[in-house]
Amino acid sequence: MIIGVDYYPEHWDEDMWEKDIRLMAETGVSVVRIAEFAWCRIEPQEGCFDFEWLDRAVDLLEKYGLDIIMCTPTNCPPLWLYEKYPSAVIKDHSGRPIETGIRGHRCYNDPDFVRLSSRVVDVMTKRYGKRKSVKAWQIDNELESNICGCDTCTQRYRSWLKDRYGSLKELNNAYGNTVWSGEFSSWEQIKPPAEGYNRAWLNPGYMLDYLRFASDDMIEFVRTQAEIIRRNCPETVITTNSWFCEKMPDLHKTFKELDFVSYDNYPPLRLPDNGEEYYSHSFHLDFMRGISNKNFCIMEQLSGAMGCWMPMTHTVYPGMIKGYSLQAFAHGADAVLHFRWRTACKGAEMHWHGLIDHSNVPGRRFYEFADLCKEARSLERIRGTGIRSDVAVLYSYDSDMALRLQPQTDGFYYYDQLKAYHGGFSSCGVNVDIISAECDLSKYKIVCAPALYVCPENLRRRLEEYVEQGGTLIITCRSLVKDENNNCIMSQLPAGFDGISGCCVSEYDPVGYDRMTVEGNDGNVYQCTCWCDILNCTGAEPILTYRDGFYKNSAAASVNCFGKGNCYYIGTVLFRDFYRRLAQKILSDRKIEFFPQLPGSVEITVRENEYSTYYFCFNNSYKQVKFVFKGECLELAPFEMKVREVTKNQL
Ligand code: GLA
Ligand code: ZN
Repeated sequence: MIIGVDYYPEHWDEDMWEKDIRLMAETGVSVVRIAEFAWCRIEPQEGCFDFEWLDRAVDLLEKYGLDIIMCTPTNCPPLWLYEKYPSAVIKDHSGRPIETGIRGHRCYNDPDFVRLSSRVVDVMTKRYGKRKSVKAWQIDNELESNICGCDTCTQRYRSWLKDRYGSLKELNNAYGNTVWSGEFSSWEQIKPPAEGYNRAWLNPGYMLDYLRFASDDMIEFVRTQAEIIRRNCPETVITTNSWFCEKMPDLHKTFKELDFVSYDNYPPLRLPDNGEEYYSHSFHLDFMRGISNKNFCIMEQLSGAMGCWMPMTHTVYPGMIKGYSLQAFAHGADAVLHFRWRTACKGAEMHWHGLIDHSNVPGRRFYEFADLCKEARSLERIRGTGIRSDVAVLYSYDSDMALRLQPQTDGFYYYDQLKAYHGGFSSCGVNVDIISAECDLSKYKIVCAPALYVCPENLRRRLEEYVEQGGTLIITCRSLVKDENNNCIMSQLPAGFDGISGCCVSEYDPVGYDRMTVEGNDGNVYQCTCWCDILNCTGAEPILTYRDGFYKNSAAASVNCFGKGNCYYIGTVLFRDFYRRLAQKILSDRKIEFFPQLPGSVEITVRENEYSTYYFCFNNSYKQVKFVFKGECLELAPFEMKVREVTKNQL
């Protein structure tokens, strides 16, 4: 397995480079990412390129046998560019340039920016494309779906809408613009939404479309760069480093343009005591693996306390540097690059800690990292092994965006709904894939589709067919509420799904932070919160019943047999004890191997190839744990990972 670091030669005196790079090589680093913010050094004046310094850095990395991930530096245009071409700055709703200062303020569509960014990518890829050490390219940095109110972006938005709807009549109809006299009578009336305005006041159809457009637009920027890179370096592989951000693009669509997924991985530095979030972080990793359904790369990995624009967090607990990187391997990463080699002494990010402190004296974190490098080397035979899962959790970009636009009730967040089911199954020690709505469902025995708020008709049909053919499906409250235009469907919930679920929602109570009580038909009592669907079970068997409120004795959840499969409807939001029991029941019903006695914080994931199965056992907690794993008494220190190999003929 590959361990790397993010390095900024331009931040340090050149006489430090060789010492740094030698130490990297001696420590066991094998790949280094460089240059994503170095545009002003690469092109100090328009059209005047200076690559000598970067050549020297690349030469040194090569001298010590290190591979390179080279980045296009387009996230931070140099100040001369903004000065000369002010139109390159993102505009607000009224067409005024936004304040520049930090980074990422470029309008993806501004013709000057596109020309100059394409040129710097062209020149760089020609220069470094033939270097054997340059193994991959990263496009830009942490791209987001920007909202820009400039003329070019506004025109592009209008043409995107014209392509989608053909006429204003269709568009007005799709959005229901007659509400509040909002019908557009000319295309010129259509503008990007104002930033900072309460989005929930705007038309939900228009808003969801805008977010889809902004994502498509960002993808176009990715495509432009990818084409240049491919033209100049036909043999390379290309990625961009993604993250879970506010202006989240459709990552599934984005990575269709690229060769592999990479992710910036900053797990929380303090784990809450209540155990609700043990698997929250592994959810993110499974999500990233699911985007292209293959192994991925961590482009930036936690290395110390985080801070800068916020007060600093705790530092990493002993075991976290090593454990969290190995955890990424366990969930399908083949390479992990730590951010960053050394903490910056200058610039706004000087309190976001790297592996080595400002003092440049290697300390505890660095030595743990060195140990990680050794362990990663010993796991080399695992590189490229795959992850196969029987359980999937379905992520829908449209539902994610629509629920961000219209919060349903206090405390109800889309990712939490997905994490609840992911966590329930993960706590049983099984692999869980996070898949997109386009994925082939028939590969899975169990599919959870929580809060599938926006469900296009073809997905509804595919889910129905999945159950009919023998799948186990879990759907929940706030599912099948909206059509593709983000309009409510005039039907009892879950719309068009009552046949499969064998129940419908006769009324609901968005209880927010309040807690209610439900009882399982096995006699177990659970707390629930956020949302309470009151179910009318037409054919389904109730599995949870409310014990309080005016809907006491009504069903809160049910299961129904349909075709060769079955469908669970969970009409409320519960806590981990419930999700874990539900997962255990379904896994035993479906005869899937799992580990019923795992301590709450333990993750077991499996990577395999045709010869061997590798069980990764990880303790995501501050406490030592002990449990029986396949007849062996396994003890794990805090954040410790142990890998057990079972050869296939042994199985
Ligand atoms: C992100 C960015 C990095 C750096 C880190 C730490 O992940 O990609 O450039 O800013 O955050 O703040
Ligand atoms: Zn723009």
